[in-house]
Amino acid sequence: MAQASNGPGRLPTEAELTRAGLGLAVEGPVARITISRPERRNAMTGRTWTTLAHIGHTLPADVRIVVIAGEGDIFSAGIDLGMFTPEGVDGERSMVGGILDGSSTGADVEEYIAGLQEGFLWLRRPDLVTVAAVRGHAIGAGFQLALSCDLRILADDAKFCMKEPALGLVPDLTGTKPLVDIVGVHRAVEICLTARRVGAQEARELGLAELVVPADELPGAVDDVVAALLATNAEAAAATKALLQQAAGNTLEEQAAAERRAQVARLTALAGTMAADNR
Ligand code: ACO
Repeated sequence: MAQASNGPGRLPTEAELTRAGLGLAVEGPVARITISRPERRNAMTGRTWTTLAHIGHTLPADVRIVVIAGEGDIFSAGIDLGMFTPEGVDGERSMVGGILDGSSTGADVEEYIAGLQEGFLWLRRPDLVTVAAVRGHAIGAGFQLALSCDLRILADDAKFCMKEPALGLVPDLTGTKPLVDIVGVHRAVEICLTARRVGAQEARELGLAELVVPADELPGAVDDVVAALLATNAEAAAATKALLQQAAGNTLEEQAAAERRAQVARLTALAGTMAADNR
């Protein structure tokens, strides 16, 4: 069950979550988000992503782990294709309507997409470890959502597909960077420009999955990983994730300096705890 937030603002209500095709259960340090529009194969809309951003902004401060899964045997069929019709989905803003009728400038559309990207960006926060639990298809925006997470745990029936170029689009929901970081630019070009399906075993070989398990073992495997993550000191985990995130962009000297700074902060905290214990 969703619960009141200790952070700024309040979590989305059950009605808001349902309207966005999402479920949310927060239990202590673990938040579980479910993409839940089974009649549309868990296809997502703009509202799904603005509500995801809302969740990210209002999660209780003690949440450390976020698990994202799809309802049923599919992660997500990606964007609801109705978003590319002039009328959009359920009265939601269409991706093309404003361009078609001249009411939106390119800058307006960029601003709109930036709001949608917020639903994906927060998953990189150092104070959280985010886990995608993937069954079946993760297409387009679904693949990008999985790529936004720190860890991908796949059922053996999982299939990734970056469908956007095949639809005349580019992947724009923050998935291109993690994809290139993981598989390299050449494999990323091949995966995106063929829009082919990457099965679970290949995903594992490419580093797109940390773990692949039989489908009926996925919930248990996720629980095991969550338990192992929770056994690590929260502040050390956040500081380590922050260090790892900056490693690729740093020179060795810069990274070594960042390690020293982070360790001084950790040692200072540990010394403070020891001093308090001795009082
Ligand atoms: N948007 C809207 N409706 C969808 C979507 C979608 N992305 N995907 C599936 N649905 C709907 C279907 O229209 C169908 O509706 P209906 O029952 O009213 O006819 C229902 O969900 C079931 O879909 P099926 O195709 O019958 O399901 P199946 O299990 O055979 O296939 C699959 C699933 C592979 C996901 C297929 O539906 C598919 O390829 N969907 C489109 C994927 C896509 O192109 N997504 C956009 C990628 S680009 C991006 O995300 C930015």
